[in-house]
Amino acid sequence: MAAQIINGKAFAASVRKKVGEHVARLKSEHDIIPGLAVVLVGEDPASQVYVRSKGKQTAEVGMKSIEHKLKANISERELLALIKLLNEDETIHGILVQLPLPKHLNEDLVINSIDPAKDVDGFHISNVGLLGTGQKSMVPCTPLGCLMLLRDHHRSLSGLDAVVIGRSNIVGKPMAQLLLGESCTVTIAHSRTKDLPDVIRRADIVIAAVGRPEMVVGDWIKPGATVIDVGINRIDKPEGGTRLVGDADFSSCSEVSGAITPVPGGVGPMTIACLLANTVTACCRSHDLKEPDGLTV
Ligand code: GUN
Repeated sequence: MAAQIINGKAFAASVRKKVGEHVARLKSEHDIIPGLAVVLVGEDPASQVYVRSKGKQTAEVGMKSIEHKLKANISERELLALIKLLNEDETIHGILVQLPLPKHLNEDLVINSIDPAKDVDGFHISNVGLLGTGQKSMVPCTPLGCLMLLRDHHRSLSGLDAVVIGRSNIVGKPMAQLLLGESCTVTIAHSRTKDLPDVIRRADIVIAAVGRPEMVVGDWIKPGATVIDVGINRIDKPEGGTRLVGDADFSSCSEVSGAITPVPGGVGPMTIACLLANTVTACCRSHDLKEPDGLTV
């Protein structure tokens, strides 16, 4: 039986709508406008596209959006000075430094210089620790988006076997923590995992976040399992031109799975929607106001 297609694009639109409504309420009832600052260092074309999209969507939901575009050769001291200014700016509730940074900048140092309360990426070591110990934190956007889609699809995730393929700090590790928080039995698989197909065949939920085009195939999927595809890979088409594919082979996986996210239109749109959600959450927390329901864990 063909899998149900999980429509991340539509779900992301509903998250943005909820964020927009909350932003309007903050403005009318408290005269507060949530603000997001995005910092881009250098001219990586993919990062430029993401940052433009983030700025546009931030403004569309009625929030203040500022962008700092810095030269690739900026010194660490200058970048840290900018982050200090943003930390102190009361009109800014969320700060995002687009990764990867040029090699001469210490990524950990830069991320950990962001005020954890404004760390809408959830990458600061304090937020990582809070998430790992089940405490209220800022939650990384892509895993948060995946969890929202899973919660929407499954009545309960408790007791399900989940395999996360990929162990990055941005997706794999926080995703595993979130699924543990839902009482899943979680396995993190990676490039050194022995018998990856066998590990994946046990999973009720497969999160594919390896960055390898169409690596996960239908033969590895337990019938009826849910496949959440985090990959966004551009590959050449035989007839010329390119197309976007995920880390799962959509055609074979959708024949076996119970539900699957497409690429594009699955997890991708959820990431920026969750960034907006995190910014409004951070704003509410900073003003001791009630957070919007359903926009965080
Ligand atoms: N680069 C790729 N994904 C992300 C993300 O979620 N946040 C930031 N800051 N940089 C990224």
